[in-house]
Amino acid sequence: MAHGITLEHHILRRQRAVPEATGELTRLFHQLSLASKIIASKVGKAGLANVLGLTGDVNVQGEEVQKLDIFANNTIVSCVEASGTVCVMGSEEVEEPIAISPHHPKGKYVLQFDPLDGSGNIDINASIGTIFSIHQRKTEGTGPGNLGDCLQPGRDLVAAGYIIYGSSNMLVYSTGDGVHGFTLDPAIGEFFLSHENIVIPERGDTYSINEGNYHRWSEPTQRWVDWIKRPGADDKKAYRLRYIGAMVADFHRTLLTGGIFVYPGDSKNTNGKLRLLYEASPLSFVVEAAGGRASSGEERILDIEPTALHQRTPLFIGSKGDVDDAVAKIFG
Ligand code: AHG
Ligand code: MN
Ligand code: MN
Repeated sequence: MAHGITLEHHILRRQRAVPEATGELTRLFHQLSLASKIIASKVGKAGLANVLGLTGDVNVQGEEVQKLDIFANNTIVSCVEASGTVCVMGSEEVEEPIAISPHHPKGKYVLQFDPLDGSGNIDINASIGTIFSIHQRKTEGTGPGNLGDCLQPGRDLVAAGYIIYGSSNMLVYSTGDGVHGFTLDPAIGEFFLSHENIVIPERGDTYSINEGNYHRWSEPTQRWVDWIKRPGADDKKAYRLRYIGAMVADFHRTLLTGGIFVYPGDSKNTNGKLRLLYEASPLSFVVEAAGGRASSGEERILDIEPTALHQRTPLFIGSKGDVDDAVAKIFG
């Protein structure tokens, strides 16, 4: 890896091109990347540090919470609130919007995040990640933000991205013009630009879905999966199935090599499993900036007007051709 451009340098350089930029976004990214390095270090030592296993608590989604989820949540909150760049935050692990401590100034941004995505993978040493989204505040002034600041559609995002804790640790972000990937050099403790201007292929040859839910899907969804893996259908090869159960990891592969990731609605969960504000929306922002598509089946993910912090949405995301095919075959 060339040790040329650090994440901070990259963001600073782009912010300098914006005349009204105050440096707040650069500071926010700095604190986010600091949090991710702390999380990466903890994840890397998970077995040693005796943090594996469950806390025994249940999060607002009714799922078991693992210790690293809470550690990651608390690390992001404390690193970011100290930066004075946000007026409120939203996290998968916290039921209500997270108020900024009265000891810290409130900034003009709203940060929402999934502190650890794919946390079921922690115990098996497979990839996990963090997803983040950044909006400008809607409330006027410099006081605390509120739920209304969190409930903004993805098309209004200022920036979004994810960190993947995998065989290497990467941070991938977009401010809407291009998608850029940085790899953490653990010896130096810095993210260096390693994937400039990521463009998702027009089509791929993999599909990614929890096929164990087949019996709960609508017939059109079942027919689409039957079609996509059938060789010779519409002159295409059989698509390969890849599913690790951590959306960040499945998404990262899809972004780099093309194809489609899907979490559809089903007879048990009509809106699927994934959360709009801190899972679907930021990754949809990234995929569109890379030339891809993201849809709920009914509409563009980025156009959904949120009504609740933890609302869910069906998600079809990936290469433009593959997402268009799926939406046309299932909903057309
Ligand atoms: P989280 O660990 O933040 O709760 O997210 C897990 C999500 C997502 O990462 C993954 O794609 C999906 O759950 C897997 O769900 P299934 O086990 O239902 O396939
Ligand atoms: Mn998640
Ligand atoms: Mn999570």
